[in-house]
Amino acid sequence: MSEPLGATWWRQAVVYQIYPRSFADSNGDGIGDLPGITSHVQHLRDLGVDAVWLSPFYPSALADGGYDVDDYRDVDPKIGTLAQFDEMVAALKAAGIRLIVDIVPNHTSDRHEWFRAALAAAPGSPERDRYIFRRGEGPDGERPPSDWTAAFGGSAWEPVGDGQWYLHMFAPEQPDLNWENPEVRQDFLTTLQFWADRDVDGFRVDVANALAKDLTLPLPSQAELDADDLPDGVHRLRDRDEVHEIYKDWRELFDRYDPPRTAVAEAWVPSAHRRARYASPEGLGQAFNFDLLLADWDAIEFRKVIEENLTLARSAGTSSTWVFSNHDVVRHATRYALPAGTDLKKWIRGDGTNPPADVERGLRRARAATLLALALPGSTYLYQGEELGLPEVADLPPEVLQDPTWIRSEGKEKGRDGCRVPLPWTSTGPSLGFGSGPAHLPQPPSFAELSVERQQADETSTLALYRRALAERRRLQTSETLEWATDAPDDVVQFSRPGGWTSVTNFGEAPVPLPAGDILVSSAPLADGTLPGDTTVWLRTAD
Ligand code: GLC
Ligand code: CA
Repeated sequence: MSEPLGATWWRQAVVYQIYPRSFADSNGDGIGDLPGITSHVQHLRDLGVDAVWLSPFYPSALADGGYDVDDYRDVDPKIGTLAQFDEMVAALKAAGIRLIVDIVPNHTSDRHEWFRAALAAAPGSPERDRYIFRRGEGPDGERPPSDWTAAFGGSAWEPVGDGQWYLHMFAPEQPDLNWENPEVRQDFLTTLQFWADRDVDGFRVDVANALAKDLTLPLPSQAELDADDLPDGVHRLRDRDEVHEIYKDWRELFDRYDPPRTAVAEAWVPSAHRRARYASPEGLGQAFNFDLLLADWDAIEFRKVIEENLTLARSAGTSSTWVFSNHDVVRHATRYALPAGTDLKKWIRGDGTNPPADVERGLRRARAATLLALALPGSTYLYQGEELGLPEVADLPPEVLQDPTWIRSEGKEKGRDGCRVPLPWTSTGPSLGFGSGPAHLPQPPSFAELSVERQQADETSTLALYRRALAERRRLQTSETLEWATDAPDDVVQFSRPGGWTSVTNFGEAPVPLPAGDILVSSAPLADGTLPGDTTVWLRTAD
């Protein structure tokens, strides 16, 4: 079966996630913007990424970092215009970089015109039917319809004053849409088409597993929802089988384009085999695999995760994805700096002091982990700033926190702002080259040393490593297979790719003998014929 040229570009791509409000600020208002991205396309080109995934840039009150969308077919005036979006796309395309945009279909914001209309309309009206309104318990509906809790804390139901409550699985400013309503389905197809027509190559689908819900009465309790003894596909709120009918329609639309538009599902589903359906060619095509992100720094665990996911992807007719960091999780340079099993939320609550982070070890392991993942068949998703080895900023003062988690948990959890601190482009200036004024989240002094400017001039920097690795990968990448070394020690993950490319990672502390071959890239300096601990090397070996 022959495929049109370029149709499968995403199968082994390196995709760089931009969180637009923290990437680069072109006008000094402290907020990153689209012209800021356009002005730094050269950085992406030098890095050698195949595509950018752009987190939400739509009009938003930022109740959840832009994942509360007021209008799916426009740009937030605080960060740009549609014309500037087109300029950004043109600049990326000129640099040979594709673009994936974030789509948030589970919920709109409470400022979306549909939700305003729903509030203005009566219970039972077509306006309310686009969302999930239910009557509350009690004579006047004064109690929530169920005891469900929202992901950011507090009740998942919000009253609107007439005995009705609406469902929000995330913040109250993010009312859940009713995907049984054909108008909702149609409108998202219109949105996808809008961006696909603007030369967008694909979509990252937010909480892709939650669109289909079953709210028939009686509603189960939260304890019943949390029970893990349910068969696959029948949970009331997530990963229901019928969610795939939605993506079948999306796929039909994607396949009308040349090259077909692609998509990647964010689906935190309970077991890996459930992920395959989101990733199938009849569905979204690819899905995030967070298993390496969740794994401890351990050779046996890594090997198991890799093997399982390659098998799974193959059986689903797709390629695997690999992820260590994104805008929702503690940066991996910091995760690896902490003892395995550290409660990360608690650690951030304590401003990142207990236990102390072993920054050097964390970065060393992060570099080794990324180099390993970049040698695997499939796509690697990088998060802005990881190419600089940025750590999580755990000691942001409470008064600057923006994540709804902070407010909704009543200060029990600080949330995700620590991985969203703006990038340091230079080593001086009010926001280290991010903009001409202070940034919307303050950068710690340690960011100055980690700036692009500084690392650019340093052969041994993390930035230099990423650039070298991406360039080599582009040259070496062939078919989607690997062969495990059968004689590798327990602490070592070693495999070869077709064409004579071998990746070796030493997860242990003691150096191990280096296999024969010419050294292509290594995540740390090598000493005479051995591979030190916490290090990955790529070798050119015989086929
Ligand atoms: C996804 C996003 C996250 C957001 C949530 C609600 O998990 O990655 O940032 O808060 O969805 O939209
Ligand atoms: Ca700005």
